[in-house]
Amino acid sequence: MDQTFDSRQRRPARIPIARLKNNKTVNYSSLILPLLRRLDPERAHNLTLMGLQLGLGPSNTESDNPALAIQVAGIDFPNPIGLAAGFDKDARVFNAMLQAGFGFTESGTVTPKPQAGNLKPRIYRLPEDNAVINRLGFNNGGLDAYAKRMAGPKTGIVGANIGRNKDSADAIEDYVTGARRIAPFCDYLTINISSPNTPGLRDLQRADALSTLVVAVQSALTETGAEPPLFIKIAPDLTEADIDDIAAVAISSDINGLIVSNTTIERPKFLKGNHRTEIGGLSGKPLFTPSTALLSKMYKRCAGKLPLIGVGGIASGEDAYRKIRSGASLVQLYTALIYHGPRLITDIKRDLADFLEKDGFSSITDAIGVDVK
Ligand SMILES: Cc1cc2nc3c(=O)[nH]c(=O)nc-3n(C[C@H](O)[C@H](O)[C@H](O)COP(=O)(O)O)c2cc1C
Repeated sequence: MDQTFDSRQRRPARIPIARLKNNKTVNYSSLILPLLRRLDPERAHNLTLMGLQLGLGPSNTESDNPALAIQVAGIDFPNPIGLAAGFDKDARVFNAMLQAGFGFTESGTVTPKPQAGNLKPRIYRLPEDNAVINRLGFNNGGLDAYAKRMAGPKTGIVGANIGRNKDSADAIEDYVTGARRIAPFCDYLTINISSPNTPGLRDLQRADALSTLVVAVQSALTETGAEPPLFIKIAPDLTEADIDDIAAVAISSDINGLIVSNTTIERPKFLKGNHRTEIGGLSGKPLFTPSTALLSKMYKRCAGKLPLIGVGGIASGEDAYRKIRSGASLVQLYTALIYHGPRLITDIKRDLADFLEKDGFSSITDAIGVDVK
């Protein structure tokens, strides 16, 4: 791949807009983003959700380049760019985000019972690093409210991401409860065992615990008769032995995909942001290299046996393309939206299509894992 190719400089980005009721438009990037950045990150996020719920989100009316279409786990994705879990924890804005141009969204993490999460403040921007640290701790309104919203009309592919309550005595039972309740209403189901902010959660990544969890969730899904594809979301902070174990369990238990990865508890020395020592999961640009390295390792172990969804630090079409070339069939992002706003989605799709064409690939499928093979 030609690293010097920056197609964002070749063509001016289309101006993203929010459309008001009287059909006037608001420039999101130059007006709204700078205002939101002055606010506390969690307040800014809640205001964003409110705006999206009021119908003030950007509207992408352009149809996707057919080269971006891909089938994964039996689902036809119009494009491979997804909204990562955590943005729409309570399944309030999935249609608005699909409208903004995402090929799919993942709502959650939802836990069986509502829970408040950790004490505020609990989200920190590191603008110098294009990164965020969060220790939200699965704050969400619980499965009942979530399921009602997920049961409503959807304008595209919406996955559900489930977790456990902090005070739960039986973690596996929490995932089973979530799977049973949400299976009829989601296009795919993600088991999140990788958030760093729920004590003990990541222990479920160990081979024996993971096998037990997967068997329990799979039989719960069979009972519902809905049986959406099942994905597992893993942490980037894994040893080689952990990676081997997870790959072996995922393949032997017929999981439909692995999401690589959640946020990291590592703090690279190069971080500059004032909040770099805050406790929590680090996301955004500093996560790109470690999460992509893990993706490549997983691809080597899983190639052809199960698809991978690449997440971590994607902020451009080139980043998305590198994830795909490192083994991802689909990608997701969150943190870059905080810094760049929704214009990014259109930019990434356009640049990704350009990269594919330039390298002579007629579809995403042809580019998956070419840097690893
Ligand atoms: C504020 C915030 C909240 C998040 N909440 C969740 C969550 O509830 N469940 C989950 O699986 N991942 C969650 N994530 C992780 C993201 O889905 C994603 O895996 C991670 O941020 C890496 O992608 P990014 O660098 O594009 O943000 C959260 C991330 C952020 C920044």
